[in-house]
Amino acid sequence: MPTESVAVEDLTIDDAATELARLAKEVAHHDALYHGKDQPEISDADYDALKRRNDAIEARFPALIREDSPSRRVGAAPSVTFAPVVHARPMLSLDNTFSQEDVQDFVASVYRFLGRLPDQSIAFTAEPKIDGLSMSIRYENGRLVTAATRGDGTTGENVTANIRTIKEIPKELPRGVPAVVEVRGEVYMAKSDFMALNKQMEAEGKQTYVNPRNTAAGSLRQLDAKVTASRKLKFFAYAWGEMSDMPADTQFDTVQLFKDWGFPVNPLMKRLNSVADILAHYDDIGLKRPDLDYDIDGVVYKVDSLELQQRLGFRSRSPRWATAHKFPAEQAFTTVEKIEIQVGRTGALTPVARLTPVTVGGVVVTNATLHNEDYIKGLGNSGEPIRDEEHDIRIGDTVIVQRAGDVIPQVLDVVMEKRPADAAPYEFPKRCPVCGSHAVRERNEKTGKLDSVTRCTGGFVCRAQATEHLKHFVSRNAFDIEGLGSKQIDFFFESEEEALRIRTAPDIFTLERRQQNSLTKLENIEGFGKVSVGKLYAAINERRSIALHRFIYALGIRHVGETTAKLLARSYGTYETFAAAMKEAAPLSGDAWNDLNAIEGIGEIVARAIVEFYKEPRNVEVISALLSEVTPQEAERPVTSDSPVSGKTVVFTGSLEKFTRDEAKAKAESLGAKVAGSVSKKTDIVVAGPGAGSKLDKARELGVQTMDEDEWLALIRG
Ligand code: IVH
Repeated sequence: MPTESVAVEDLTIDDAATELARLAKEVAHHDALYHGKDQPEISDADYDALKRRNDAIEARFPALIREDSPSRRVGAAPSVTFAPVVHARPMLSLDNTFSQEDVQDFVASVYRFLGRLPDQSIAFTAEPKIDGLSMSIRYENGRLVTAATRGDGTTGENVTANIRTIKEIPKELPRGVPAVVEVRGEVYMAKSDFMALNKQMEAEGKQTYVNPRNTAAGSLRQLDAKVTASRKLKFFAYAWGEMSDMPADTQFDTVQLFKDWGFPVNPLMKRLNSVADILAHYDDIGLKRPDLDYDIDGVVYKVDSLELQQRLGFRSRSPRWATAHKFPAEQAFTTVEKIEIQVGRTGALTPVARLTPVTVGGVVVTNATLHNEDYIKGLGNSGEPIRDEEHDIRIGDTVIVQRAGDVIPQVLDVVMEKRPADAAPYEFPKRCPVCGSHAVRERNEKTGKLDSVTRCTGGFVCRAQATEHLKHFVSRNAFDIEGLGSKQIDFFFESEEEALRIRTAPDIFTLERRQQNSLTKLENIEGFGKVSVGKLYAAINERRSIALHRFIYALGIRHVGETTAKLLARSYGTYETFAAAMKEAAPLSGDAWNDLNAIEGIGEIVARAIVEFYKEPRNVEVISALLSEVTPQEAERPVTSDSPVSGKTVVFTGSLEKFTRDEAKAKAESLGAKVAGSVSKKTDIVVAGPGAGSKLDKARELGVQTMDEDEWLALIRG
């Protein structure tokens, strides 16, 4: 039996020596990947398991502890590109705890070490463990002089120029701070910034990043600080190195002083007095975790009193006064049982991996999206490799899945060593699995490249496309019909009864009439009942008059989302004008076509999709039937010519007191303005209510015009 599968208690001394050698090599390998290349190969949990096994064997055979044991090292040796910085005080690591019992043991060991009785209460701080990179920032006489990464704990890398680009980190401290101050904390990338960056990479056809931590690490290791500056890194201060003078005598108060000095500190840090309170805070932080805009992987507990910290001191690589209570890992290994194809409203075939259920970060994951044919092959949107050596995904493969926040789980990589001998490359279907029509990848006319999406050509014939269309039609931003959810649509669609069937949108509005003459009563069908049927009819009838943009959006024209629908409604005013213009634009030339393309925010691809939609007689037929049931209202036309804000991009921020956000948006749009969610160089006006923060700051920074609610009202009233 290989030594690695033998329980620690059963190891002979020879086995133990072999095992420790293996573990030293393996941990060093993963350290190098993690710290040096920012490309981890195994999950954090598995890495921790290796280290724990090493610790357990060493505890049993202390004589075998190796010079190069992972227990003697912190992180990896610094990489060569940056100048080395020897830390004035070593940057230590934290011991990990994984269970409530571990935490109780930690607290008990602190009491024991200090010779305290349980009734002589010791306070602890508890705060999130930020999943970023630790940084030591040194200030002399109030000025930032050096910033260094942890490196091997003794020597780090000098990344001062890069750290200076981080807005959140003060370059100067207020008067009166100690002459030497070394603030330590975590540099990280916000989840939202990470997603935005990846979106941009995707739009540019570049390879996307794996997670915020690696991206932050990569961003810091840039030799060109301009690249770092473009990456929006952030910082939380939570510790310190050398201090010529200690400004407070507890952990909590020192960190609060850091806040006064201008450092961001984590708002979830608390000072607590009992194990029960500590564990309750751990649970609370765990619950908040999905909503935080940064990744955390546990909660750090520290003895609050600095005097007691001093007394407790350090073991070889970690303090005795602190521990990290880790969350269950958010990556896991599992196997691909099947690959299924889902067919969407526009006919797109999306492959989904059905996985052997696995818990990832406390949530059971059974599916992961595989996006498209190329993704399964290991290729990105521009044909670039997205996995090591273009690993493709096959049924039967063992894969690493990751769940980041609320995002749909992703397959990170394939464990090639575990691929079954008979696993064949996945053959992407050539026909729609629902209706059997041909499924094709269109070629982009301009670039000549194949589109990444494979589409069913069945159109209305395809049950999947038809039901997805209906589900879109009744969805919240379209017709918003309460009581008609996905389940009900499937039921009505499949129904064989003429008086119950809903196959197209107009059928929704004729249902009540058809029911009146029928013997098969909806209220007698399980899951409906008299009251809910009454409510359903009321909900349907309420939508017989509908805003034009909702009507257009509900049609489900490819590429026409809510914003485009609003642009169309605003430009054409009435449905009749719009439909007539689309018909006229059919040759893809002439005035009507040019007018459509001239609408700001509508590009050629979108314009073409709309015109093509109206060329399909079946679409026109369904809409005509729909129009005998439903009346789209005339859109409020912008008073474009004499509105002082027409064509301007406006951002509302802060808590608005004079109007609701929706109201402000609608009004601005009706005056021909575009309302945006974030401030950029393209913003013309920022309207700030009380409590406005970063958006207002950004506007000022960019020299964008800012005003309060009253000034805005005065402006639009002329
Ligand atoms: S305290 C001597 N507090 O976790 C102890 N560390 O595994 C100094 N980390 O190297 C560290 N959040 O990079 C501390 N709130 C927090 C933390 C934190 C993240 C990181 C830090 C450290 C590693 C230890």
